[in-house]
Amino acid sequence: MNMETFHVKLFSLLFILLNSVWSTTSTSNSESFVQCFSSHIQDSNSSNEIILTRTSSAYPSVLDFSIHNFRFLNNSTPKPEAIITPFDESQVQAAVICSKKSGIQIRIRSGGHDYEGLSYVSRAPFIIIDLFNLRSIDVDIKNESAWVKSGATLGELYYNIAQKSRVYGFPAGTCPTVGVGGHISGGGVGAIVRKYGLASDNVIDARIVDVNGRILDRKSMGEELFWAIRGGGGSSFGVILAWKLRLVPVPPTVTVCDVTKTKEQGATKLLLKWQNIADTLPEDLYLHSIVGSSNNTITIAFGSLFLGRVDKAVQVIQENFPELNLESSHCSEMSWIQSVLNSSGYSMQEPLEILLNRRQLSYYYFFKAKSDYVTEPISEAGLEGLWHILLEANTSYMILTPYGGKMSEISDSEIAFPHRKGNKYEIQYMVTWGDGKDTKKYVGFMRRLYAYMAPYVSKSPRAAYLNYRDLDLGRNSYGNTSYAQASIWGLKYFKNNFRRLVHVKTLVDPGNFFRNEQSIPVCSSGKVEGQQIYGLGFQDR
Ligand SMILES: Cc1cc2nc3c(=O)[nH]c(=O)nc-3n(C[C@H](O)[C@H](O)[C@H](O)COP(=O)(O)OP(=O)(O)OC[C@H]3O[C@@H](n4cnc5c(N)ncnc54)[C@H](O)[C@@H]3O)c2cc1C
Ligand SMILES: *[C@@H]1O[C@H](CO)[C@@H](O)[C@H](O)[C@H]1NC(C)=O
Ligand SMILES: *[C@@H]1O[C@H](CO)[C@@H](O)[C@H](O)[C@H]1NC(C)=O
Ligand SMILES: *[C@@H]1O[C@H](CO)[C@@H](O)[C@H](O)[C@H]1NC(C)=O
Ligand SMILES: *[C@@H]1O[C@H](CO)[C@@H](O)[C@H](O)[C@H]1NC(C)=O
Ligand SMILES: *[C@@H]1O[C@H](CO)[C@@H](O)[C@H](O)[C@H]1NC(C)=O
Ligand SMILES: *[C@@H]1O[C@H](CO)[C@@H](O)[C@H](O)[C@H]1NC(C)=O
Ligand SMILES: *[C@@H]1O[C@H](CO)[C@@H](O)[C@H](O)[C@H]1NC(C)=O
Repeated sequence: MNMETFHVKLFSLLFILLNSVWSTTSTSNSESFVQCFSSHIQDSNSSNEIILTRTSSAYPSVLDFSIHNFRFLNNSTPKPEAIITPFDESQVQAAVICSKKSGIQIRIRSGGHDYEGLSYVSRAPFIIIDLFNLRSIDVDIKNESAWVKSGATLGELYYNIAQKSRVYGFPAGTCPTVGVGGHISGGGVGAIVRKYGLASDNVIDARIVDVNGRILDRKSMGEELFWAIRGGGGSSFGVILAWKLRLVPVPPTVTVCDVTKTKEQGATKLLLKWQNIADTLPEDLYLHSIVGSSNNTITIAFGSLFLGRVDKAVQVIQENFPELNLESSHCSEMSWIQSVLNSSGYSMQEPLEILLNRRQLSYYYFFKAKSDYVTEPISEAGLEGLWHILLEANTSYMILTPYGGKMSEISDSEIAFPHRKGNKYEIQYMVTWGDGKDTKKYVGFMRRLYAYMAPYVSKSPRAAYLNYRDLDLGRNSYGNTSYAQASIWGLKYFKNNFRRLVHVKTLVDPGNFFRNEQSIPVCSSGKVEGQQIYGLGFQDR
């Protein structure tokens, strides 16, 4: 036997040994979990409906229903030992208590849009707490607020507000199937961000199950944890059950306009101008651009939402961006809720009930995305080089979301989301494909695109948006998290708020029970790179 075969044999033997240890541990863990969970909930409901094990007939369909990225839908994707689908908050408490007791990890899923599948994939044996049954929405127009359970989608939220009033809305993202649990805990950017800020800027209370299985609200969790779950991501801190949101006024009529140009029609020059004005426009106007490549050319769509009538919309755009030659024929007046339909790709004539559809097939494909923040306009040469790369994959696009307005008025440390003043716009890069065989090719394409953009975007750190999660930025090692390792990606997502997030994490979950590849690490020594992290005076705020 030569050395190489010997190694292979030794390795296989080790593998088999480890694997058998692994599966016995995981089986006994999952058995003890199921036992514990069933005994906790025996009087509330039949546990068979709430706990789906691998042998349950509903297991595959419930698991796959909320998988939005096909990269994580294949036979080699690790599957949960069980899926818990609570109807009642007490069942979430039981799931946390029992998973801790039996040493099994949990993944928390609301809408399932996580770009890297972290809400439903784990390398260690795990269960999923899937919150889709906890999705009631209670809108209180008189008090301009709403309690929304985490498993609700943005579409369900917008629909329920519109059922009560057409002159209130909520500043969150544009895709109706996105879950409020993940979205709001990560920030939440949509078409009225320049007027009202992020979704998480408009949270006034929350309910969370902590690591000890207690239900806490804003008052009992304290301002530190309440700060952390607005932009710091929920999954490091507990299971968020519900948000109390501040509704925002919108006029009865808003205006949506759209002008699309190709490179040959002068789109590059228009984008150069757009970069200079998009963040300084009046905050009633949101004007983004979407750059795509198809038919061997670059196409840029300049889309806008104006909180007012069409004549004023055209006037404001003409004054600030005459080169666009915008006319009222490019625009439509509609209600705010119809503008939600429009930005979701639906005709404004569609019945609003279409927003209740939790599974829109057009949002299901293989994809890889990344994000950047732009603080200085990109040069024309820079854009021309970028077009060159984008043309390599005609299913790639970039969404350029202007900041400024309200976003510049809020300090970087107000909540855990840090990307405020000084950012002209945010970029989301996206590439999609339809066949798992092409995954390597398109992920490689995305990495090349990102490498090319380095000189043109924010630096030290090169900032990124948590809700456009990207594991290429770094991850915790398996079974371990260290401050040094986590700060590589942590500083990109959270900038100067990272240290404070570590501090909050250490206080509320010192045993690091709520963890994943990019969860906030615990600092067990109470020190971060030799500096004391306690006693920074946060507690008194
Ligand atoms: C098609 C599409 C369109 C999008 N459009 C926008 C947009 O317009 N604006 C924008 O800002 N973002 C947008 N996003 C990104 C989106 O905000 C994030 O993917 C968000 O995290 C999704 O939340 P979710 O509940 O659907 O996802 P999930 O995958 O369920 O959760 C995402 C993360 O949050 C954690 N989590 C979920 N629920 C809870 C909870 N109740 N308690 C604690 N932790 C929890 C999960 O464990 C996971 O880590 C879009 C994403 C997609 C796929
Ligand atoms: C299958 O899923 C795993 C993640 O669980 C992923 O790494 C892999 O790329 C997927 N395979 C394909 C062909 O998409
Ligand atoms: C029990 O489960 C059913 C769904 O099968 C659900 O409609 C009902 O609300 C649940 N009841 C309680 C008390 O959890
Ligand atoms: C209305 O909301 C405010 C702040 O969110 C709260 O203090 C007040 O108690 C609420 N009033 C009612 C009637 O719910
Ligand atoms: C995109 O590229 C593929 C293969 O290169 C080609 O078949 C397809 O027609 C292109 N689509 C568009 C819209 O350009
Ligand atoms: C690409 O070209 C074809 C044929 O000219 C046209 O039908 C199609 O609409 C074009 N696609 C885009 C996205 O411009
Ligand atoms: C949204 O409105 C714009 C402006 O009127 C229009 O050009 C576009 O086609 C609309 N989108 C949909 C999907 O109806
Ligand atoms: C955990 O991380 C620390 C610091 O990076 C490292 O020294 C240690 O070896 C790691 N342990 C494991 C089990 O990976």
